[in-house]
Amino acid sequence: MKLVLVGFMGSGKSTVGPLISQEFSLPFLDLDDLIVEKTGLSIPQIFDRLGETGFRELERETLIDLLRSDREFVLSTGGGAPAYRDNMDIINRYATSIFLYAGFSTLYGRICGDSNRPLASLGRERLKELYRMRLPFYRKAHLTVNTEGKDPYEITREVVSLLTGGRGKANR
Ligand code: S3P
Repeated sequence: MKLVLVGFMGSGKSTVGPLISQEFSLPFLDLDDLIVEKTGLSIPQIFDRLGETGFRELERETLIDLLRSDREFVLSTGGGAPAYRDNMDIINRYATSIFLYAGFSTLYGRICGDSNRPLASLGRERLKELYRMRLPFYRKAHLTVNTEGKDPYEITREVVSLLTGGRGKANR
Protein backbone atom coordinates (compact mmCIF):
# COMPACT_ATOMS: atom_id res chain seq x y z
CA MET A 1 0.00 0.00 0.00
CA LYS A 2 1.13 3.52 -0.82
CA LEU A 3 -0.47 6.33 1.19
CA VAL A 4 0.26 9.96 0.35
CA LEU A 5 -0.63 12.83 2.69
CA VAL A 6 -1.34 16.19 1.09
CA GLY A 7 -2.24 19.57 2.56
CA PHE A 8 -0.95 23.09 3.11
CA MET A 9 2.12 23.88 5.20
CA GLY A 10 1.33 23.32 8.86
CA SER A 11 -1.50 20.84 8.27
CA GLY A 12 0.27 18.15 10.32
CA LYS A 13 1.41 15.79 7.54
CA SER A 14 4.80 15.18 9.16
CA THR A 15 3.26 14.70 12.62
CA VAL A 16 0.36 12.46 11.65
CA GLY A 17 2.29 10.56 8.94
CA PRO A 18 4.50 8.57 11.36
CA LEU A 19 1.46 7.67 13.49
CA ILE A 20 -0.43 6.38 10.44
CA SER A 21 2.63 4.46 9.27
CA GLN A 22 2.81 2.67 12.65
CA GLU A 23 -0.84 1.63 12.38
CA PHE A 24 -0.19 -0.05 9.05
CA SER A 25 3.39 -1.21 9.80
CA LEU A 26 4.67 0.77 6.84
CA PRO A 27 7.77 2.96 6.63
CA PHE A 28 7.19 6.71 6.91
CA LEU A 29 8.85 8.91 4.28
CA ASP A 30 8.93 12.68 4.05
CA LEU A 31 9.38 14.09 0.55
CA ASP A 32 11.27 17.18 1.78
CA ASP A 33 13.67 14.96 3.78
CA LEU A 34 14.30 12.81 0.71
CA ILE A 35 15.14 15.90 -1.35
CA VAL A 36 17.48 17.17 1.40
CA GLU A 37 19.22 13.75 1.51
CA LYS A 38 19.51 13.61 -2.28
CA THR A 39 21.00 17.09 -2.68
CA GLY A 40 22.84 17.54 0.60
CA LEU A 41 21.19 20.97 0.80
CA SER A 42 18.50 22.34 3.12
CA ILE A 43 15.14 23.40 1.61
CA PRO A 44 16.00 27.15 2.02
CA GLN A 45 19.39 26.52 0.32
CA ILE A 46 17.68 24.78 -2.62
CA PHE A 47 15.26 27.73 -3.01
CA ASP A 48 18.23 30.14 -2.89
CA ARG A 49 20.38 28.27 -5.39
CA LEU A 50 17.85 26.79 -7.83
CA GLY A 51 14.84 29.04 -7.31
CA GLU A 52 11.35 27.73 -6.62
CA THR A 53 11.05 26.12 -10.07
CA GLY A 54 14.30 24.21 -9.54
CA PHE A 55 12.95 22.97 -6.22
CA ARG A 56 9.62 21.95 -7.82
CA GLU A 57 11.35 19.92 -10.53
CA LEU A 58 13.49 18.11 -7.95
CA GLU A 59 10.40 17.52 -5.84
CA ARG A 60 8.46 16.14 -8.83
CA GLU A 61 11.28 13.84 -9.93
CA THR A 62 11.71 12.47 -6.37
CA LEU A 63 7.95 12.00 -6.00
CA ILE A 64 7.50 10.19 -9.32
CA ASP A 65 10.50 7.88 -8.74
CA LEU A 66 9.00 6.87 -5.42
CA LEU A 67 5.47 6.39 -6.73
CA ARG A 68 6.69 4.25 -9.63
CA SER A 69 8.84 2.06 -7.34
CA ASP A 70 7.41 -1.11 -5.85
CA ARG A 71 7.94 0.26 -2.33
CA GLU A 72 5.10 0.58 0.15
CA PHE A 73 5.03 3.61 2.44
CA VAL A 74 3.22 6.50 4.06
CA LEU A 75 4.55 9.66 2.40
CA SER A 76 4.23 13.23 3.61
CA THR A 77 4.45 15.70 0.70
CA GLY A 78 5.37 19.39 0.83
CA GLY A 79 2.40 21.76 0.63
CA GLY A 80 3.21 22.85 -2.92
CA ALA A 81 3.76 19.42 -4.48
CA PRO A 82 0.13 18.63 -5.40
CA ALA A 83 -0.28 22.00 -7.14
CA TYR A 84 2.72 21.65 -9.51
CA ARG A 85 2.08 20.38 -13.05
CA ASP A 86 0.08 17.11 -12.94
CA ASN A 87 1.64 15.86 -9.68
CA MET A 88 -1.75 15.38 -7.99
CA ASP A 89 -3.05 13.20 -10.84
CA ILE A 90 0.10 11.10 -10.67
CA ILE A 91 -0.24 10.74 -6.89
CA ASN A 92 -3.82 9.56 -7.36
CA ARG A 93 -2.85 7.09 -10.07
CA TYR A 94 -0.25 5.28 -7.96
CA ALA A 95 -1.38 5.80 -4.36
CA THR A 96 -4.26 6.49 -2.02
CA SER A 97 -4.18 10.19 -1.19
CA ILE A 98 -5.40 11.82 2.00
CA PHE A 99 -5.99 15.57 2.36
CA LEU A 100 -5.45 16.93 5.87
CA TYR A 101 -7.72 19.96 5.85
CA ALA A 102 -7.37 22.94 8.19
CA GLY A 103 -8.60 26.52 7.82
CA PHE A 104 -6.14 29.23 6.81
CA SER A 105 -6.02 31.00 10.20
CA THR A 106 -5.05 27.78 11.98
CA LEU A 107 -2.33 27.08 9.44
CA TYR A 108 -1.01 30.63 9.42
CA GLY A 109 -0.62 30.57 13.19
CA ARG A 110 1.56 27.47 12.88
CA ILE A 111 3.81 28.53 10.00
CA CYS A 112 4.36 32.28 10.22
CA GLY A 113 7.99 33.09 10.94
CA ASP A 114 9.24 29.54 10.27
CA SER A 115 12.69 30.11 8.75
CA ASN A 116 12.88 26.56 7.38
CA ARG A 117 9.87 27.26 5.14
CA PRO A 118 10.94 29.78 2.46
CA LEU A 119 7.34 30.55 1.45
CA ALA A 120 6.21 31.19 5.03
CA SER A 121 7.76 34.66 4.83
CA LEU A 122 5.45 35.75 1.99
CA GLY A 123 3.10 37.58 4.34
CA ARG A 124 -0.44 36.77 5.38
CA GLU A 125 -2.31 37.99 2.28
CA ARG A 126 -0.08 36.29 -0.27
CA LEU A 127 -0.07 33.08 1.75
CA LYS A 128 -3.85 33.18 1.94
CA GLU A 129 -4.00 33.55 -1.84
CA LEU A 130 -1.62 30.58 -2.23
CA TYR A 131 -3.85 28.55 0.09
CA ARG A 132 -6.94 29.41 -2.01
CA MET A 133 -5.15 28.50 -5.22
CA ARG A 134 -4.00 25.16 -3.86
CA LEU A 135 -7.28 23.99 -2.30
CA PRO A 136 -8.72 22.64 -5.58
CA PHE A 137 -5.64 20.43 -5.99
CA TYR A 138 -5.85 19.11 -2.44
CA ARG A 139 -9.56 18.46 -2.93
CA LYS A 140 -8.74 15.95 -5.65
CA ALA A 141 -7.45 13.62 -2.91
CA HIS A 142 -9.26 10.30 -2.48
CA LEU A 143 -9.97 11.00 1.20
CA THR A 144 -10.25 14.16 3.30
CA VAL A 145 -9.98 14.57 7.06
CA ASN A 146 -10.96 17.84 8.70
CA THR A 147 -8.22 18.27 11.31
CA GLU A 148 -9.63 21.40 12.99
CA GLY A 149 -9.69 21.02 16.79
CA LYS A 150 -8.34 17.47 16.68
CA ASP A 151 -5.09 16.12 18.09
CA PRO A 152 -2.76 13.94 15.98
CA TYR A 153 -4.08 10.73 17.55
CA GLU A 154 -7.70 11.58 16.72
CA ILE A 155 -6.71 12.45 13.17
CA THR A 156 -4.83 9.16 12.87
CA ARG A 157 -7.84 7.21 14.12
CA GLU A 158 -10.03 8.92 11.52
CA VAL A 159 -7.61 8.17 8.73
CA VAL A 160 -7.38 4.51 9.78
CA SER A 161 -11.14 4.27 10.02
CA LEU A 162 -11.61 5.78 6.54
CA LEU A 163 -9.04 3.42 5.07
CA THR A 164 -10.37 0.28 6.70
CA GLY A 165 -14.07 1.06 6.48
CA GLY A 166 -14.25 1.39 10.29
CA ARG A 167 -12.72 -2.05 10.90
CA GLY A 168 -9.73 -0.62 12.82
CA LYS A 169 -6.23 -1.78 11.97
CA ALA A 170 -5.69 -2.97 8.42
CA ASN A 171 -5.34 -6.71 7.86
CA ARG A 172 -2.18 -7.01 5.88
C1 S3P B 1 6.29 24.24 0.58
C2 S3P B 1 6.07 23.45 1.68
C3 S3P B 1 7.15 22.83 2.45
C4 S3P B 1 8.38 22.59 1.55
C5 S3P B 1 8.77 23.87 0.86
C6 S3P B 1 7.65 24.44 0.00
C7 S3P B 1 5.12 24.85 -0.11
O1 S3P B 1 6.72 21.59 3.01
O2 S3P B 1 8.13 21.60 0.59
O3 S3P B 1 9.15 24.79 1.86
O4 S3P B 1 5.27 25.28 -1.26
O5 S3P B 1 4.03 24.86 0.50
P1 S3P B 1 5.63 21.53 4.24
O6 S3P B 1 4.26 21.54 3.65
O7 S3P B 1 5.97 20.22 4.87
O8 S3P B 1 5.91 22.69 5.12
